[in-house]
Amino acid sequence: MAGRVLVVGSGGREHALCRALARSGWSVVAVPGNPGMAADGEAVALDVADHAAITRLARERRVDLAVVGPEAPLVAGLADALRTAGVPTLGPSREAARLEGSKAFAKEIMVACGVPTGRSVTVTDVGEGMAAVAAFGLPVAVKADGLAAGKGVVVAASADEARAALEDSLVAGAFGDAGRVVVVEEGLAGREVSLLALSDGERVVRFPAARDYKPIGEGNTGPNTGGMGSVSPVPDVPDALADRLLEQVHRPVVAEMARRGTPFTGVLYAGIMLTDRGPQVLEFNVRFGDPETQCLLPRVDEDLGALLLAAATGRLEDRPIRVSEEACVAVVMASAGYPGPPRTGDEITGIDEAEAGGAQVLHAGTAEDDGRLVTAGGRVLAVVARGPGVEGARTAAYAAAARVRFAGAQMRRDIGAGL
Ligand code: AMP
Ligand code: GLY
Repeated sequence: MAGRVLVVGSGGREHALCRALARSGWSVVAVPGNPGMAADGEAVALDVADHAAITRLARERRVDLAVVGPEAPLVAGLADALRTAGVPTLGPSREAARLEGSKAFAKEIMVACGVPTGRSVTVTDVGEGMAAVAAFGLPVAVKADGLAAGKGVVVAASADEARAALEDSLVAGAFGDAGRVVVVEEGLAGREVSLLALSDGERVVRFPAARDYKPIGEGNTGPNTGGMGSVSPVPDVPDALADRLLEQVHRPVVAEMARRGTPFTGVLYAGIMLTDRGPQVLEFNVRFGDPETQCLLPRVDEDLGALLLAAATGRLEDRPIRVSEEACVAVVMASAGYPGPPRTGDEITGIDEAEAGGAQVLHAGTAEDDGRLVTAGGRVLAVVARGPGVEGARTAAYAAAARVRFAGAQMRRDIGAGL
């Protein structure tokens, strides 16, 4: 079936959703959307925090499905508002979204249902925090409990660094209320994998494993960003391992949430570290990952809208998601200055040439200015290509990215390399 879908959000993840849904025949309304989505549907400029306006639009347009992209509106209860108005919605309730909205709650759930995760203590003052640091040794992770736009985690190599992170969050209020509670977690080492699964509250099906590249610099050096690229599949996480992780992580969490009367409907994203002593969950997100979505959705070989609608309405089939054997690589192009304050307003050219060869150029931080497309944020766009094997996809993505130009563009050259 192809119907009408409302996509909430304005970044690269949401553009990937709009593109994939449009390609499977759905008509797309995006709120507030971005300039790139004009080719895939209609963008309506509403405030994502205005739940009443979004719900009204969903009803006026008689959408068959709403998909909420970012975490903040989920934690604020947008999915509840939409469902209450009778709109089938992919995205967890406010209660279930606490899996991302509170790291302490996520730990409580993992401990309750036996999901492997690092030892941790939840604290509200620096003294308690330093006692946990002394108990765990170094390095140690200091995590603001609430949503902190990806900036709330410090992996401290020294006690001084750990103390500074605790003081920042608990005393100086660097993350506002989101940092009044802190989770101190033992340091873990290993390779990371993002494993996303769809749940209808009861059943769970997974996407292929993906990996994102958080640091700005090649070889994973320099400060963290929102993600400079992504790849799927991940050759060191074969399907059999991904299947095991689904059984060890996602399935027990979905069962525990249902048992508590707060079933989880939506995308459950587990950030997992593969350590010497086995997989350890670092965090949950309650939504599609950005930029993982940009490399996962082009691999889906079935009607994405029908799949998401089945999850939203409790009718998910117990079968694997059909995906292409081809690999996919997404290379992010960022503005000068990013991840610090980005330079904006630079003209972007070459997108049509990049897409002529079959790549997708997904917008994240772009704007229209007097008929020109210009940079308007830190991560500007992602160039995404499929190919035979990761190396083939990588070659295609970088060939397409070379055609897209704007002044000061930054991109990592090693996305998907050496896997
Ligand atoms: P999170 O938001 O909890 O996923 O943390 C962000 C990043 O911090 C992760 O992707 C890891 O690279 C790193 N990290 C989180 N927890 C730990 C830990 N316990 N030990 C080492 N690194 C961690
Ligand atoms: N890729 C990390 C995130 O979506 O939070």
